[in-house]
Amino acid sequence: MQEEYGKNDLKYEGGELYLDGLSLREIADEYDTPLYVYSAERIKQNYTAYKEAFNFMNTKICYALKANFNGSVISLLTSLGAGADAVSGGELYMAKEAGINPEKIVFSGVGKSRQEIVEAIRMGVCMINIESEQELMRIEKIAAEEDVPANISFRVNPDIDPQTHPKIATGLKESKFGVPEEKALELYQRASSSPQVNVRGVHLHIGSQITSLEPFKMAASAAVELVSKIESRGITIEYIDIGGGLGISYGDFKVPAPGEIARALKPIFEGCTQKLILEPGRSIVGDAGFLLTRINYVKKGKDKNFVVVDAGFNDLLRPAMYGAHHDVIPVKKEGESITADIVGPVCESGDVIAEKRKVDGVIQNNYFAICDSGAYGFSMASNYNSRRRPAEIMIDNGWATLIRKRETYEDLVSTEA
Ligand code: LLP
Repeated sequence: MQEEYGKNDLKYEGGELYLDGLSLREIADEYDTPLYVYSAERIKQNYTAYKEAFNFMNTKICYALKANFNGSVISLLTSLGAGADAVSGGELYMAKEAGINPEKIVFSGVGKSRQEIVEAIRMGVCMINIESEQELMRIEKIAAEEDVPANISFRVNPDIDPQTHPKIATGLKESKFGVPEEKALELYQRASSSPQVNVRGVHLHIGSQITSLEPFKMAASAAVELVSKIESRGITIEYIDIGGGLGISYGDFKVPAPGEIARALKPIFEGCTQKLILEPGRSIVGDAGFLLTRINYVKKGKDKNFVVVDAGFNDLLRPAMYGAHHDVIPVKKEGESITADIVGPVCESGDVIAEKRKVDGVIQNNYFAICDSGAYGFSMASNYNSRRRPAEIMIDNGWATLIRKRETYEDLVSTEA
């Protein structure tokens, strides 16, 4: 868990785990498990850390909705002044529902559908971040039909290694995202003479869970260089959007805080007249969330121990998909400490939360808190094995509020026709 810019108020009192002053045992007893619990306070601290760090230039913080799209989370961030990075019609809809000013919404994505582009143009978003020449052509056609020019930027692939998991590296030349730098200038030239589009910015996003400064510095330098090349052709660029990607500490390694990123980037943006756009997701909500899960069975074997919990990879996919580490801590200090695989109920051997993990609090019916689950937790949950997606709770100002009900069995069949 991160120390650098705030810290969760997470502590044991009388042998029970408390978050922001509330007993997680009581919350789990009341709302059942698996259950996502978020700290509003931590989300606020994380957002504020960005806001304060980047006050050296005009900056829009467009929260990446994909990290956690619960309407209460979005509304909380909106109330603090955040905009949104949306990547689908669904996310555009959520941004609209939260009342976010369209000038604070950027629309990204490598495969935008015709309908999604129509919606973005009608909303009047700040920028549609274009990822291919064909997308530009589609946007021009739709803008002509709608009779409104579309605000655009191109997502440029700078071929930078973000030094992260290969599945979440997006700015390498072999990745599907963006247009190559060589091609970008030609596209800017073309777009600048098109009456159907307003060229507004340059967009980059090189990957996620980035834990060092270097890739951000390289990306920012690439953006600034590209902007000067574009502007030397007489095309004005208003926004530099450097995407998201700042990692969090899943465990106890050190990651840079937004303030360190800002200090590293400030000299690079020196003299730039553009406004900056950031699209953080994980670093806003990741360490604010905990997945509470009940220990259903403890299976001790000669070679291996298993702790079978009620959260599966349908609830939290990250360990199964990326081999991701999440700290697992007991909600009640009882039971024993053993080394075990912590596994879910899904009928696949890959349904693992943690492998060969030394874990405390092992006793049937205790709860575990799976830490740092606020980003890409619920948002990647599914109904696999006809499991109901979990409920979500927000702790704010000493109150725990249900912000999403647990799905019902009826919900599982409600869209069948
Ligand atoms: N902007 C764009 C264009 C993105 O594609 C993403 C994330 C972000 C911003 C936000 O990145 P962040 O600040 O959260 O790193 N499911 C994976 C992460 C996938 C990230 C996809 N794009 C995981 O659980 O690690």
